[in-house]
This record gives sequence, C-alpha cells and structure tokens, in this order.
Amino acid sequence: MNDMNTLPLLQEFRKRYPKSGTPQAAWAPGRVNLLGEHTDYNQGFVFPMAIDAGIQIAGALNGTERVNLYSLDYAAQESFLLEDIVPSVQNTWVNYIKGVFVEFQKLGLKPQGVDLVLQGNVPQGAGLSSSAALEVAAALLLNSLHGWDTGAVDLVKLAQKAENEFVGVACGIMDQFASMLGQRDHALFLDCRSLDYEAIPLPLAQRSYTVAVVNSGVKRGLAGSEYNIRRSQCEQAVEMLEQQLPGIGSLRDVGEEHLALVNALPDPLARRARHVITENERVLKGVAALKAGDLEEFGRLLNASHASLRDDYEVSCRELDTLVELALEVPGVLGSRMTGAGFGGCTIALVPQPSLPAFQEHIHKHYTERTGLQPEIFVFRPAPGAGIITGAGAPLS
Ligand code: GLA
Repeated sequence: MNDMNTLPLLQEFRKRYPKSGTPQAAWAPGRVNLLGEHTDYNQGFVFPMAIDAGIQIAGALNGTERVNLYSLDYAAQESFLLEDIVPSVQNTWVNYIKGVFVEFQKLGLKPQGVDLVLQGNVPQGAGLSSSAALEVAAALLLNSLHGWDTGAVDLVKLAQKAENEFVGVACGIMDQFASMLGQRDHALFLDCRSLDYEAIPLPLAQRSYTVAVVNSGVKRGLAGSEYNIRRSQCEQAVEMLEQQLPGIGSLRDVGEEHLALVNALPDPLARRARHVITENERVLKGVAALKAGDLEEFGRLLNASHASLRDDYEVSCRELDTLVELALEVPGVLGSRMTGAGFGGCTIALVPQPSLPAFQEHIHKHYTERTGLQPEIFVFRPAPGAGIITGAGAPLS
C-alpha cells in the first residue's frame, strides 16, 4: 500500500511546473524476495513479496519534446530531449526513467514531453529494488498519461528491458514483476519461464510470526559486474551440460536427478549450477510448506538457501553471514538468509512477533560490535503492487 503522503509531491509539482495541467501520479513498491535467488534469469522459480515502501511519481504532458524531472529525495533536477536520450553520468537515478522512455520508443509508441516529480521511501542500494520500483512507476505513469493500453505484464517486460539495455544490468524479471503484481498479505510464486504466477497467502500473522528485514549497510557496489559474471557462468554450465542433456534451454530444465552430472562440471560452474538447481527445488518445497502452514520447514529452507548462496553461488559476504548467524541465535527464529542479488544489501529472518524486541536488541548490539556498521531493521507488510494513485494516496489498480 502507498503509505506515503502524496501532498508534498503534488505541491512540488505545482511549484515547479505552474503552467502544467493537472498531474496524475503512480506508485510502485520495492520487494523482498523470500526464496528463489538467482533463479529468475535461469528461467526458474522465485517467491518475492512487494513491500509497503516504494516510489511515487507525479507527472503531466507538457506539450513539448522535453522531459523535465525533479527528485525530492535528491533535491536534484534534470531535463532531456526525447530525440536524444543518452545516459546521465551525474544523476544516475534518471537513467531508469530514460530507459523506460527509450523502450516505449522502441515499441513504436511516441512518448511526448512530460514534467515529472518523484519521491521514494524504499532504502536505496539495500537490495530492495528501488530501481525496479522507479522503472515500474515510470512505465505505468507514461502509459496512463498517453492513454496507451499496454498490459501489466508487458509493462513489466518493458521495465526489465530498460534496466537490461539502458542501465546495463542483465537482471531477471523478478523485481519488476513483484513491484507490478504484488498482492496484499501474499507472496508471488512466479515461474519465470511461463510467467504464470500464484499469489500465496502468508500464514504469518496467524502463527504470530513476522519477516524482519535487516539492512547490512553494505552497499552493493560490486553487484553489477559480479551479477553479470554469475549469469554468464550459468550460461556456460548449460552449454557444457547440453552435451549430455540435449535440448535443455536453461538450468531450469536440469533437475536434482542430474546432480551427478552437474557435480562433474569444472569448478566454479558445478557449484553455480548446483545452487540454481537446488534453489528451484527449495522454492517448490517452500510454497508447499506454506500451503501446509509449516513455517518450521519454511525456515529450514531459508537457512539452506543462505548456505547455498554463500558456499556455492558465492554472492554473500561477511556482513550478511554475520547477520544470519546473529538472527539464528535469537530463540524462536525459524530461519534467515540474504535476500536479493547479494554482496551486501539485506537479510530476512522469520521471527516470532513477541521476540521482535529481543531480535532487534541482539542484532543492534552484536552486529555493530563485529562489523562497525549500523544495521537497520524493517518489518514490511506484504503489499499490493503498482497503481495509479487517487487523491487519497491509494492505488486504483
Ligand atoms: C537482483 C535482480 C533480480 C534477481 C536477483 C537475484 O535483484 O534484479 O532479477 O536476479 O538479483 O535473485
């Protein structure tokens, strides 16, 4: 849900663009992935939830060939011409929006000049998909301002392409999908090959559990390049496995019954592929466990996912491992793991609601002692996905 007040956004819009017409506004949430990490670009399964923190953008067509933007968070403005969209070096946040314009242009649609103001409350560089939220909010708003009828899943694909092709990160589809199609109190069980999905109710409140999200404070500096390396290692593993398993298109087609073949690949390809194959299984088991109300099993799967990301996929780091260890020291915590691309960002933990104060105290005390960093702890509510905002601030769709 959009808990942010839209008033400052609209006031800023009026102040900056007094000649503009009445603005529309869009909201898109960030996401936390519960299970299924680095599986999306391998055509596998993921299980993210949208969160009640995100980005809102207000905008109106301005009758020119120019896009004007203002970010309340950065107190920064930019402007560019539609016929000449090139990456910004200084205000890199603008690139996510520029990428969306370029993708609409590639579809043969002709975006016009707009005046935009944006504001967010999803922590940046924390692996909570503030960039996907920005792309999705921009895509939704432009679609609405121009009266186009691009469907939600096509807008998701367009937002992903903006990131792949304009920003240059070869991300999968999970983040944009969760941001667009999240549902209140549910996580999305998504098949990244067919894009079929099922909203799974999270039986947390009934059992008095909560998903705590802990920001390690380590910015995902290396994530871009290391991320692309992991992706190409998976492609190399598929090429080698194809010799014994003709017809496989991706690691999604390789099951646990083929682990002996996988383990025979050269290092590190064996470990990279093993992570993806076992992680896909963990998503399937995790969804089944939640359907059966078995939070204990779900917690065990979180722990196994972390071990696999740490040892086989090697995308964790000392700080994330420390947060996971500390979380599991708190009585009643059922599981914990890093979430998102890795190399920093956040962990999640399945914490009994009554133990939340003890959890917070334990993490704050020992994490800073061990790393010198300040953790930030959030409890997000699984939220509905993106929408056009009405006057009261709630998404219409
Ligand atoms: C980032 C990417 C996603 C996904 C995760 C890892 O968040 O944007 O597409 O690959 O990393 O699971």
